[in-house]
Amino acid sequence: MSRIQIEGLTRRFGDVTAVDGISLDVADGEFLVLLGPSGCGKSTLLRMVAGLTPPTGGRILLDGRDITSAAPRERDLAMVFQSYALYPHLTVAKNIGFPLRTRRRRDPRIDADAKVAEVASVLGLEDLLDRRPKALSGGQRQRVALGRALVRDPGAFLLDEPLSNLDATLRTATRAELTDLHRRLRSTFVYVTHDQVEAMTMATRIAVLNGGRLEQVGTPEEVYDAPASTFVAGFIGSPAIGLLPARLSSVDGALRAVGDGVEVPLGAGEDHGRDVLVGVRPEHLRLGAGDVQFRGTVRHVENLGGEEVAHLDVGAGRIALRGPRPLDLAVGDPVALTCDPARVHLFSATGGRRLVRTPSRDTVAA
Ligand SMILES: Nc1ncnc2c1ncn2[C@@H]1O[C@H](COP(=O)(O)OP(=O)(O)O)[C@@H](O)[C@H]1O
Ligand SMILES: [Mg+2]
Repeated sequence: MSRIQIEGLTRRFGDVTAVDGISLDVADGEFLVLLGPSGCGKSTLLRMVAGLTPPTGGRILLDGRDITSAAPRERDLAMVFQSYALYPHLTVAKNIGFPLRTRRRRDPRIDADAKVAEVASVLGLEDLLDRRPKALSGGQRQRVALGRALVRDPGAFLLDEPLSNLDATLRTATRAELTDLHRRLRSTFVYVTHDQVEAMTMATRIAVLNGGRLEQVGTPEEVYDAPASTFVAGFIGSPAIGLLPARLSSVDGALRAVGDGVEVPLGAGEDHGRDVLVGVRPEHLRLGAGDVQFRGTVRHVENLGGEEVAHLDVGAGRIALRGPRPLDLAVGDPVALTCDPARVHLFSATGGRRLVRTPSRDTVAA
């Protein structure tokens, strides 16, 4: 059992506020991913949960118990770092069993060898137990680092970019292994990454951080389908969502967002002169005419093998179209695009927060 409640957690380093009043409730058994660009405070947040960095404000509760100032070893949490931090002079077995040495001193009944063997079999390391870290591949070292966390049977695992030293193929394979491990262990995982694909594929929920603040928390579907801000919309999804400037206006009670090359009917409503950003994901656009209209010029076409991506200038904005190859578009071509109105995202041009249609009030609101 490990529920982790983070309440208004803050950490300042001199003038830098690395983590700025973040609150998060991580349920028992969740795979929560902290996602954001480099420097947004992910590691600092995780290190505060681990007890490695003291907060300058806020509280951390573990299963209801306040652990804000508890020592790391009193927290029943195991941390795995990007750098693995293995002991080079110890074998795989000794590295995995290392955390048990102090435990055995307190409780001699612990059968360290059996525990190491069990963990090694969970991670497929049985044949490597006598090797030293330098005789292992990056992926194997990462598994040993995980083993050292597993052997402690912690209530929760804290992982800081554990796959970022692996090459692309191995990263994909290890993603699936970690997801599988989480399913079998049913423990709480808090996983830090800047990689949106890792977040989308592994998380039960994603917490998106930006500049030390929480932008949005939700399931992968929620953050992808209903991003709370232009930051979240732009950070998740590749190629990135197109964001086009437009202005709300009403004619005879019909609300529209209109910009240079942009025409989006929004149903019945009154709103005048508000500046917005119209967002559409590349896979939701299609060539042709419809109620939603975008007119642009092809700037660049990329062949992804199975699909093509066309990057287009629409007024002062950019938008990408993704579809089956060949799209039959050439640089400089004028293009008309449309999409399902339900796929259009609206954001405030000031502040970038998502605007939601509220039909009852015939308007859009933040
Ligand atoms: N020990 C430290 N001393 C001073 N500044 C730090 C320290 N650790 C982190 N920071 C600063 O805090 C911010 C967040 O850093 P970090 O948590 O490492 O971000 P992330 O893990 O998302 O890349 C950065 O501006 C970083 O320079
Ligand atoms: Mg970091």
